[in-house]
Amino acid sequence: MKPRLIVSRQIPPDVAARIAAEYDCPWPEGRDMDADTVIRSLVDHKADALMLTSHLKFPKEVIDRIPAHVKIAATCSVGTDHIDIPAAKARGLPMTNTPDVLTECTADMAFMLMLNASRRAYEYDKVMREGWRIHYGLGELMGKRVWGKTLGLVGFGRIGQAMARRARGFGMKILYSSPTQKPAHEEQGATYFADFHQMLPHCDILSLHAPGGAGTANIMNAETFAMLAKGAVFVNASRGGLVDESALIDALKSGHLYGAGLDVFRNEPEYDVRFADLPNVFLAPHMGSATVETRNAMGFRALDNIAAVLNGHPPIDPIWQ
Ligand code: DGY
Repeated sequence: MKPRLIVSRQIPPDVAARIAAEYDCPWPEGRDMDADTVIRSLVDHKADALMLTSHLKFPKEVIDRIPAHVKIAATCSVGTDHIDIPAAKARGLPMTNTPDVLTECTADMAFMLMLNASRRAYEYDKVMREGWRIHYGLGELMGKRVWGKTLGLVGFGRIGQAMARRARGFGMKILYSSPTQKPAHEEQGATYFADFHQMLPHCDILSLHAPGGAGTANIMNAETFAMLAKGAVFVNASRGGLVDESALIDALKSGHLYGAGLDVFRNEPEYDVRFADLPNVFLAPHMGSATVETRNAMGFRALDNIAAVLNGHPPIDPIWQ
């Protein structure tokens, strides 16, 4: 008999095909389920495992309703801020995430946001679609050069370091701030700031790569945006909760910030539509990991974790020990 699985969200066809082959799963392609539907499906299907994504908030009151026959819940995300980890631990529910496999694509996205915000990609695209028919003079629609500029990274884990690798190819000077200084082979010439406030005035471009959650909530606010030099570019492909969005909008409107590239928002998917009125923002709907290769790798990694636990082995990527 195949183990029984519930998948809470639509997933790529290749991952669905593996699920159909290896699991008894009512909707191997996934469904966009809310928490109540997930719990009901787990109970009705007598599921052994749950595969979820970061869209599903997993607070204590949901975790406590997971039936005892569920032996693992695997999130297809590296981020775990949607999960009440102490509650999962208290309940003894093994939970796993998908680190490593999305590092490079998420860094690609952050780099794309940086280039697009600096080089006015949104406005260029708009001009073309509106039917470009006149030559612009040498003084119009000028962007900001990225090559050779100073990039500040808040967070220097896997994705922050992958961003730094890309930036080196653009001749950029790299600054970073993280809770601890990294060994020299990981720093690769980047300059460490123990206090990120002290890094801010030196950045031409600031990119966030820190995890979400209480420890980083609103670290970018009116005060910290003001510490950036006038004309800085701001990039966020980490989590929207790191940013006071009203303060960001004010800084973009006043011209203190030259532009921003944003893939994440405080309230997804109902993002603050005031951003849509600003020409100096490049917007994406939380797509950092959205390539076929990476989304497949995330799904397969989650399935590997599920298989490990259901076969009596320790999880490969536990989010609590
Ligand atoms: C992640 O993996 O954390 C991405 O942001 C998708 O949620």
